[in-house]
Amino acid sequence: MALSKKPYKGCRDLFPKEKREQNFLFDTMHLAAKQFGYEPYDGPMLEEVELYRAKSGQELINDQIYSFTDRGKREVAIRPEMTPTVARMVAGVHREIPKPIRWYSIPNLMRYERPQKGRLREHWQFNVDIFGPDSIYHEIEILQVAINLFNKFGANENQFGIQINNRAFVDFFFNKTLGLDQDKAYALYKLVDRYTKLKPEAFEEQLNEIGLNNEGSEQFKKYLDIDSIDKFKSFAGEISFSSEKWDFENFFTTLEKLNLLNYVEFNASIVRGLDYYTGLVFEIFDKHPENRRALCGGGAYAGLMSIFGEEKLPGVGFGLGDVTLKDFLEVHNLMPDFSTPQHDLYVAAEDDNLEIDILNLSTNLRNLGLNICHHTAKAKFKKIIQAAAKSGSGAVGILQSHENQTQIKIKNLNNNTTETFKLSESEKIKLFILEK
Ligand code: HAM
Repeated sequence: MALSKKPYKGCRDLFPKEKREQNFLFDTMHLAAKQFGYEPYDGPMLEEVELYRAKSGQELINDQIYSFTDRGKREVAIRPEMTPTVARMVAGVHREIPKPIRWYSIPNLMRYERPQKGRLREHWQFNVDIFGPDSIYHEIEILQVAINLFNKFGANENQFGIQINNRAFVDFFFNKTLGLDQDKAYALYKLVDRYTKLKPEAFEEQLNEIGLNNEGSEQFKKYLDIDSIDKFKSFAGEISFSSEKWDFENFFTTLEKLNLLNYVEFNASIVRGLDYYTGLVFEIFDKHPENRRALCGGGAYAGLMSIFGEEKLPGVGFGLGDVTLKDFLEVHNLMPDFSTPQHDLYVAAEDDNLEIDILNLSTNLRNLGLNICHHTAKAKFKKIIQAAAKSGSGAVGILQSHENQTQIKIKNLNNNTTETFKLSESEKIKLFILEK
């Protein structure tokens, strides 16, 4: 039986068009990160499962990880996320580098998930993280990098928003106000994380299992109702949440002074599925009615270094997937057309024995910085024009033998002018091709 031509379930073949689109996303990511002084890094595709078991959370380990035992009997996983890897790398070198450490990467990750719109088994994820002393300015900078990226694509606050919450606040509420022990608090976290995904009856049932008393249930309902910064501040006041744990007044005032508050909403149901977050948590979501989903997730994690036996070095960062980003850009008509490649000149010959001339002229023009797609088989000008248009070339050239000399007839497809040149006139040819 012939083998399937389809890629593995939930993975994509990136043909040239898709790769051009992805490169556009990546180029913009590189630019957005570099503008804030972030340095690129990368890590291995495989890590020991232990790395994720330590603090990534049950869902990732039990349901999503691709793992196997290698020939040396090590339990190994294909990376499902980058944060544990970057924390491991930073733990190994942070003593030698000045703080804060600003790093970014665009790894491909694998998660065993049910493929659906916006969720695949393989995706590429833009990771931006800052490591250094705990500071609301680092949290805000991370939000700024994400906003900067979306702005670079032409998106504004009417198209995307940032929903935030804070784990220190949630911890305080669960432990001090509701008086939950560690296991119950963890169960409640997981339930809140599924709040928008569960049917109300199922949510109630699972909440009952956790067993809050009447007063606790009332307070919890009020907590879930927090959907604005004002409601958060008033709730924080009621439960006496101290700004020592999160300097929220300063955080919101700074956002306001930077004109960024219009991007931010408070949403108590955002707690994030990964266990390592300890401070700010956030998700960027699409405001388009047809694509209301999270595009990016992140937050602050203070304790991840401890799993490597290192002193506290807090980190804040986010991960933003290429699948959700592309959907976002498409639904808002912000994705440029990459259906054709871009060459400056498509060149071929009308007569026999001109292959060497084609190759030499192409080399000369490439040395002048042009992108040339050459075709060594004999062809007719009309046919070549059609091929050039398909390949997205700005110009098409045909070599012809003329009175014992070779010349090139070029049509500039941008302004539809045609001219003939000697092969030695590379500079002139370049100027003619680039004319708009
Ligand atoms: P996460 O929320 O698991 O966070 O993923 C972040 C983003 O990656 C999601 O919002 C989504 O855009 C994309 N993503 C995740 N899973 C998939 C999937 N199966 N298919 C397509 N896209 C997906 C993290 O991974 C954290 N490690 C991010 C982070 C970095 N936190 C701090 N620094």
